[in-house]
Amino acid sequence: MSYFYFLPIKRKILVEKYKSILDISLENDILIEHNCGGNCACLSCIIYVKRGISKFNKVSNKEKYQLKKAKKIKRGYRLACKSYLVKESYRDIVIYLNK
Ligand code: FES
Repeated sequence: MSYFYFLPIKRKILVEKYKSILDISLENDILIEHNCGGNCACLSCIIYVKRGISKFNKVSNKEKYQLKKAKKIKRGYRLACKSYLVKESYRDIVIYLNK
């Protein structure tokens, strides 16, 4: 079992592996903009993973391209629609919604 801890709203959510951050947030009434509908094309869903980034899937070339366009290529920045847990974490994964 792993948990996301969303900041600055201070919400802790139990999460499943292989489900995108965007899907998890929407299921729990946490708003993350997603103007392109989760197709890695709009940059509106950028989030920052403060703790636990090593537990996520690798950044694809398309996601990397989009993050580069937004000048958010540093470790920890992800598109919520394309990132999901691939490993369990015993510590809370900390995610900033306001990047
Ligand atoms: S929702 Fe558009 S890039 Fe993620």
